[in-house]
Amino acid sequence: MTEQMEKKEQCLARFREIFGDGGDIRAYFAPGRVNLIGEHTDYNGGHVFPCALTIGTYAVVRKREDKELHFFSENFKELGVILSDLEDLHAYDAAAWTNYPKGVMWAFLQKGYVFSQGFDFYLYGNIPNGSGLSSSASVEVVTGVMLRDMFGFDVDNVAIAQIGQFSENQYNGVNCGIMDQFSIAMGKENAAIYLDTATLQYTYAPITLEGYKIVIACSNKKRGLGDSKYNERRSECEKALAILQEHKDIRTLGDLTAEEYDALEQFLPDEILKKRARHAVYENVRTKDAVAALAAGDLARFGQLMNASHGSLRDDYEVTGIELDTLVENAWKVDGVIGSRMTGAGFGGCTVSIVREDAVDEMIRRVGSAYEQVVGYQADFYVVSVGGGASRI
Ligand code: GLA
Repeated sequence: MTEQMEKKEQCLARFREIFGDGGDIRAYFAPGRVNLIGEHTDYNGGHVFPCALTIGTYAVVRKREDKELHFFSENFKELGVILSDLEDLHAYDAAAWTNYPKGVMWAFLQKGYVFSQGFDFYLYGNIPNGSGLSSSASVEVVTGVMLRDMFGFDVDNVAIAQIGQFSENQYNGVNCGIMDQFSIAMGKENAAIYLDTATLQYTYAPITLEGYKIVIACSNKKRGLGDSKYNERRSECEKALAILQEHKDIRTLGDLTAEEYDALEQFLPDEILKKRARHAVYENVRTKDAVAALAAGDLARFGQLMNASHGSLRDDYEVTGIELDTLVENAWKVDGVIGSRMTGAGFGGCTVSIVREDAVDEMIRRVGSAYEQVVGYQADFYVVSVGGGASRI
């Protein structure tokens, strides 16, 4: 039995224990994601290059006869069954994790979809919490896929990704871009998604990495102020864009080449805005170059661009911090590490590295011990595989 089927069976059994047997019980899965390159470009009209993982979120659901919503998460089992109903879809603290599925229901309602009945909803996820591997977007997308199937909504996976992003922006208050929800909804086994966030055009690029592994290092630093810093970066980029638009006809920072940006930078009034815009423009250029390098089989170049991406996120975008820098800078020292960078929003979370198979153990040992020495607690390492997108299972 595959790992996914095993997990599904366990989740079905737990669902029956908690909510009772009988009726039409259905199961769904949505992955987590890791972004290989193209960070903080998705709300700047640039390109991203993420892939879906085989870890993710499992949901088991059955409709109820009434309008009640009964939520249970294995990851927050101390909270027990959290009750709500179709008339109560607003967010509040005590609703805890259920604010994510409720947010998606709210977003569907805003788009004109109607729910006829409530449901029992069981959730289990094996994405480390707060790791920057998109556990919340995974919950949003698994909820969207479930609602479509249970209520017969006519939406495709791209629309589900957009509804997930809309709920995160409008209901949960994080002004995120489309990357996470898109890669989770549209992921494909052994492929990364090359997505133009300005048009939502995308292609799949095979990620076979013969002889290499993708290693994720989780800093175990809780994000804390991350969400507000995230929104702050986004508004700094918007400010820079508005100023540059007075001098050139562009829709987003992603419209600019490096040379065009260099010529325009003088119009930005302060160093902070220059740094933020420079990152957004150059990271987009790096992402296009990286995808071309991969297509040409030049993994070494791909790795160099990953490293340059980290440097820019550290020095210009200023979203790394001692934890992520320690993980990355020590990975760079290990022979067989092709490239290493922070991934996701930053301010804690994870790094992603491409590592020669025979160097993986050495990398984990050396980076792990350096990290503990500098930071004072342990990092966790995962050798991951690239999985498919969200679906009923
Ligand atoms: C978070 C957001 C994404 C993206 C990344 C940074 O993961 O949800 O939309 O902006 O940060 O690249």
